[in-house]
Amino acid sequence: MAEARKLYIKTYGCQMNVYDSERMAEALGGAGYVPTDTPDDADMILLNTCHIREKAAEKVYSELGRLKPLKAANPDLRIGVAGCVAQAEGEEIIRRQPLVDMVVGSQSYHHLPEMEARARRGERSVVTEFDEDKFDHLPGARSAGAPATRAPTAFLTVQEGCDKFCAFCVVPYTRGAEVSRPAERVLREARDLVARGVREITLLGQNVNAYHGEGPGGEWSLARLIRELAGVDGLERIRFTTSHPNDMTDDLIAAHGEVEKLMPYLHLPVQSGSDRILKAMNRKHTAEGYLRLIERLRAARPDILISGDFIVGFPGETDEDFEATMDLVRQVRYGQCYSFKYSARPGTPAAEREGVDPAAADERLQRLQALLNAQQREIQDAKVGTEQRVLFEKPGREPGQMVGKSEHLHAVHVTDSRARRGEIARVRITHGGRNSLGGEMVAG
Ligand code: 5AD
Ligand code: SF4
Repeated sequence: MAEARKLYIKTYGCQMNVYDSERMAEALGGAGYVPTDTPDDADMILLNTCHIREKAAEKVYSELGRLKPLKAANPDLRIGVAGCVAQAEGEEIIRRQPLVDMVVGSQSYHHLPEMEARARRGERSVVTEFDEDKFDHLPGARSAGAPATRAPTAFLTVQEGCDKFCAFCVVPYTRGAEVSRPAERVLREARDLVARGVREITLLGQNVNAYHGEGPGGEWSLARLIRELAGVDGLERIRFTTSHPNDMTDDLIAAHGEVEKLMPYLHLPVQSGSDRILKAMNRKHTAEGYLRLIERLRAARPDILISGDFIVGFPGETDEDFEATMDLVRQVRYGQCYSFKYSARPGTPAAEREGVDPAAADERLQRLQALLNAQQREIQDAKVGTEQRVLFEKPGREPGQMVGKSEHLHAVHVTDSRARRGEIARVRITHGGRNSLGGEMVAG
């Protein structure tokens, strides 16, 4: 038998890209490829790219330039660009970079096997069309070549695309309109994952709480899907991300109080605390509306940890607007946060507007991050002395150490031979570090 060809995928950006990279590896598994961890011995290299912020395309071109020596050493090496930069740039990548054999947009991965066959015949191809549901055509989790067991945590994409059109964001253009996968497909994939050792599933979508998949008896909401998933034996934990405040329905809020397997953690970006800026961003909610929503979530699940995204320096943002953001952060108390300086994305409405002074934006970002970091640290340190349930995922850096995640997604490490990968145990937290907690397993 011919030796298997090796596939190296480098993934940038969000968790959805991580999920897509796994599906691409499975699709190419059918064409005889096995994954490798290094580009040096690969027969195919795929860059799964992200277009969300600054100079995304330029970064991809320089990464491709760095692959030149590998291609010189191995003329049979095939190189592909996938993901959102591929979607946005299309043909241009082939024109600008002679090294590239395939450009495959984020909605076209089911075309990869035929593109690979063409690449081996020396033909270059570009596919960036939007189909109904790319996952309909991709092999499922049980496909040949997929490992029999896997990490105890997994992502599962249930919804893709976005119809919200926030004025700064490229997602509605790169991932297209909102599409939900049928509920039964999702359930089948979840059961397959659990059969392969997965204990925790994070449901993914750009607007995951806008999920409205076709299901038995009509359209299913995300809450309905979660309640059904909670009935899957062996699945211990359910999470979902990313949510939009306007799609946080009553039944989903209630699920946080009622579904034990639904973890007490919610990523709910607000972007700004100023109503004027929220309006300019086309967010269609106010700061007050967001704060009321957080109150309702905390009423349903008092220990829920809130995570968020912020943009500073959006066009038109004044000192006063920024102070409103700082105020909102003080009121919410975030357990986890991502904050960015606004970057103009070509093709989006905000790109036409005049930007704020870059030095002011830098200073605001520093102040916001200092506040968010302090909050995160305080919430994490407050766990010292408490007992947490930890799902162990992998060995830690120290000998004999295991690392896992608490229900609130804090990294927790223990040094104990009873700690087994894929198992949930009670851990008494004894100390906190910068990015993790340490503890001891509680007997019994
Ligand atoms: N500039 C800065 N940050 C952005 N994000 C999205 N688009 C931009 C942009 N043009 C941030 C938002 C979003 C997160 C995924 O990335 O905060 O929630
Ligand atoms: Fe982008 Fe806004 Fe859609 Fe999120 S909700 S993906 S920020 S357009």
